[in-house]
Amino acid sequence: MAASAMHISPFLPLPLPTQFSSFTRCFFNFHSTLSISPRLSLSTLRSSSAPPMETRTNIIPPSDSVMIDKEVNKIKNILACSICRGPLTAAADSGLSVESTNGYQLECGTCKKSFTGSESHLDLTITGGINSGESMPAATEIFRTRLVSFLYERGWRQSFSVLLGFPGPEKEFELIKNFITPVLGGSIIDASCGSGMFSRIFAKSGLFSSVVALDYSENMLRQCYGFIKQEENFPNERLVLIRADIARLPFASSSVDAVHAGAAVHCWPSPSAGVAEISRILRPGGVFVASTFIMDGPFSFVPFLRIQIEGIQQIAGSRIFLSERELEELCTACGLVDFKCLRNRQFVMLSATKRS
Ligand SMILES: C[S@@+](CC[C@H](N)C(=O)[O-])C[C@H]1O[C@@H](n2cnc3c(N)ncnc32)[C@H](O)[C@@H]1O
Repeated sequence: MAASAMHISPFLPLPLPTQFSSFTRCFFNFHSTLSISPRLSLSTLRSSSAPPMETRTNIIPPSDSVMIDKEVNKIKNILACSICRGPLTAAADSGLSVESTNGYQLECGTCKKSFTGSESHLDLTITGGINSGESMPAATEIFRTRLVSFLYERGWRQSFSVLLGFPGPEKEFELIKNFITPVLGGSIIDASCGSGMFSRIFAKSGLFSSVVALDYSENMLRQCYGFIKQEENFPNERLVLIRADIARLPFASSSVDAVHAGAAVHCWPSPSAGVAEISRILRPGGVFVASTFIMDGPFSFVPFLRIQIEGIQQIAGSRIFLSERELEELCTACGLVDFKCLRNRQFVMLSATKRS
């Protein structure tokens, strides 16, 4: 299905370079209702292809118009069993936060499966606590290694800006905020959070009642925990770190206001299983926002480069680079509507809303 109502946004002050103009599908396909800060014009994106890495983003004061529930976050109430999706009951009355996961115990009221937390995170995978010997495709497994988890925010993520046109954390956060304006003040799951660069920004922004940093990689979550511990005055009570598979999300259906998946869809073993799960947990009107790579342009036309991409996909064990059209079709197939996207070189950020 083609992206509809395509237009070039008026906040693009400069002519598009060849690389943009030669691919005309939805490079900027915002609906007119979406307000994008003038600071985030395409020219800004383009000129910032290699921004300095900034993971200690300043705390952004909550906007006056966003009402935040000041109580301990309510994530505990929307957790569900990753096996049968029954409600989980905590052994203790205490709220769930970064500081309370150590030894935290949950049990499914339906199938009686139990889950336990470690110092850094709560493991809600089906195989949490047992050694199943099972492994995921390479695109997932590589991020479970200590080395890649360590390097991720120490250069790896920065290379996306230089090589692929990612705008960098601060500008990406601005773009995310614009996409999720209708649900600010609610809960957000940072799905496939890696070492939690955006989860930490979300928590510090004060724009969400609760934030879940969710990833399949134990080592990424440990890194996230380490970064949090280094920060003074981090709002621990607003964030929970959870290990889970994107294809088996441990949340009740229609319970979450927003899901963000930064630079992740191409790492999932099955993007359709991931997006279907995200659609399931979003409440009607809830918003999914994601960034990923699109390997088109020279990558799809030059046979040599195309073979390289196909080789990477075979090694990765999944079809990791979807086109923008495929991403839109996937969202639509999973019951998400109002697809929007923006692009800068290989970088694409998309959003779609759970049908009301
Ligand atoms: C490239 S990193 C993105 C990290 C971060 N969101 C960002 O914006 O930089 C991709 C992440 O996807 C996670 N991932 C891969 N397969 C997954 C799965 N099946 N379920 C959940 N997360 C997964 C990896 O562990 C990794 O942390």
